[in-house]
Amino acid sequence: MSTLVYYVAATLDGYIATQQHKLDWLDNFTLGDDATSYDDFYETIGAVVMGSQTYNWIMSNAPDDWPYQDVPAFVMSSQNLSAPPHLDITFVEGDAGDIATKARHAAKGKNVWLVGGGKTAACFANAGELQQLFITTIPVFLGSGVPVLPVDHAIEVVLRKQRTLQSGAIECVLDVKMD
Ligand SMILES: NC(=O)c1ccc[n+]([C@@H]2O[C@H](COP(=O)([O-])OP(=O)(O)OC[C@H]3O[C@@H](n4cnc5c(N)ncnc54)[C@H](OP(=O)(O)O)[C@@H]3O)[C@@H](O)[C@H]2O)c1
Repeated sequence: MSTLVYYVAATLDGYIATQQHKLDWLDNFTLGDDATSYDDFYETIGAVVMGSQTYNWIMSNAPDDWPYQDVPAFVMSSQNLSAPPHLDITFVEGDAGDIATKARHAAKGKNVWLVGGGKTAACFANAGELQQLFITTIPVFLGSGVPVLPVDHAIEVVLRKQRTLQSGAIECVLDVKMD
């Protein structure tokens, strides 16, 4: 079955953006050639899911450069948002289980990338709909920011792979323990 994977970059203190939604700590960091290939990861993806804050961030910072051109995207929001008509973007709200089912169906056997942010990934984790995390930890502390996974109860994970890159970043693949 298709897996929901939260593939994300975080700081050592567990943030995915500053409080002002800045990503300079990530953009200014060079991961290096030994990092796992983004293209190889993206090959496994058949649909993406994100929250409205992440969607708005992309639309404000790179409006002409939608990164998920070839796969359907689901944006979670309770607001009346709109998308450019040429993009395959569906706005959804409500139950994470129903949204996961829709996204899996759209992914046609491939995996679903939970792009983020933390609130959206946590919503799936809380509902038992998150199966895997691929976290690239960047060697920086921010002190405050947007949390990577603000769940409402403990979510146990099993470390499947861990690799320290020459740049000092750490890649971890974690499976969520299912009850
Ligand atoms: N470092 C990285 O790799 C990375 C990756 C992704 C994102 N980010 C950053 O993370 C930040 C955003 O993360 P975030 O955690 O603050 O927000 P988010 O998860 O992107 O968006 C949260 C919003 O999504 C909507 N939503 C979530 N669950 C919903 C549900 N079940 N039904 C209806 N609407 C729902 C709500 O907004 P409404 O008010 O619209 O209902 C909620 O406030 C941005 O700065 C982004 O750039 C970083």
